[in-house]
Amino acid sequence: TDPSKTTLRLAADPAGIGRAAELLRRGGLVAFPTETVYGLGADAASAEAVAGVYAAKGRPRFNPLIAHVADLDAARRQGSFGADALALARAFWPGPLTLVVPAAPGCTLSDLARAGLDSVALRVPAHPVALALIAAAGRPVAAPSANRSGRISPTAADHVHADLDGRIDAVLDGGATAVGVESTILSCLGEPTLLRPGGTTRGAIEAVLGRSLADAAPGGPAIAPGMLLSHYAPRAVVRLDAEALRPGEAGLDFGGRFAGQGGAVLDLSPRRDLAEAAANLFGFLRRLDEDLGGTGAIAVAPIPPSGLGEAIRDRLARAAAQR
Ligand code: TXA
Ligand code: MG
Repeated sequence: TDPSKTTLRLAADPAGIGRAAELLRRGGLVAFPTETVYGLGADAASAEAVAGVYAAKGRPRFNPLIAHVADLDAARRQGSFGADALALARAFWPGPLTLVVPAAPGCTLSDLARAGLDSVALRVPAHPVALALIAAAGRPVAAPSANRSGRISPTAADHVHADLDGRIDAVLDGGATAVGVESTILSCLGEPTLLRPGGTTRGAIEAVLGRSLADAAPGGPAIAPGMLLSHYAPRAVVRLDAEALRPGEAGLDFGGRFAGQGGAVLDLSPRRDLAEAAANLFGFLRRLDEDLGGTGAIAVAPIPPSGLGEAIRDRLARAAAQR
């Protein structure tokens, strides 16, 4: 992409959404809020527009994109839903669950958006601005998170600007996102398999299916492409499950463990609420990383692995991964 585009900042009102939809229909790149994180949207049927997404993010082209659709009917025009996928879509859409299903015969998603696979990743986002944009565009919108590849996902329009200003056509500003971690990705190509923990908990999915979920074998063929890469990386070193701060470390706290230990500390949730912690996670990581000026270390207090804790711990483990 032309690195000297003028990136419009659009209010999330009917005029702004209309302008954004027009840009999408013409093959433009528009960042928009969802309930999880901001997405970088493009017309999913246009290989040229989708190529622009990969270029703006610096994203490897073997990593396919999620197509965002208005409702289950629109999803079923793109993918073939078996009984499990149908039950899950009915239970959780609109919401933070992405279903990987076989491409339908009439699928219009470009090969590039699918990275050449014969499956598709679909979701109906639970955000009024996202749904209004998809409806106004009148087509599926391919959207990865609106950050440079490998960087922390954006939960506010300012984060999108910091990463992509001058590389995309517009950002629709819908305020801070509510969930704060990306959607759960579930493969329904065979026995339902968790590819990425996220905003819909394993327990909630298992309750609908009436059985336990398989996990993707590390390195196995069912893993979501791109999920093995170091991801969500701040520039600082990240130390997990820290019992106490070491000299010079910034702290990403949970439940007040680092209280009174000095240093720069942000508490994800003083009252140990995992939904609050998920909503704060990426913004706090960005702030601590900026405060440290690209050096030093962030110590992270232990986060329980239950419920949304599984997704939070997954993102933190990626942030801490060697790179
Ligand atoms: O919450 C979210 O899911 C956000 C918002 C914007 O909707 N989107 C998001 O997209 O996180 P992205 O591109 O960062 O992650 C999409 C993941 C990738 O890891 C990709 O490998 C996987 O979905 N994926 C897409 N199509 C797939 C397919 N056919 N089979 C397996 N994995 C797939
Ligand atoms: Mg992402």
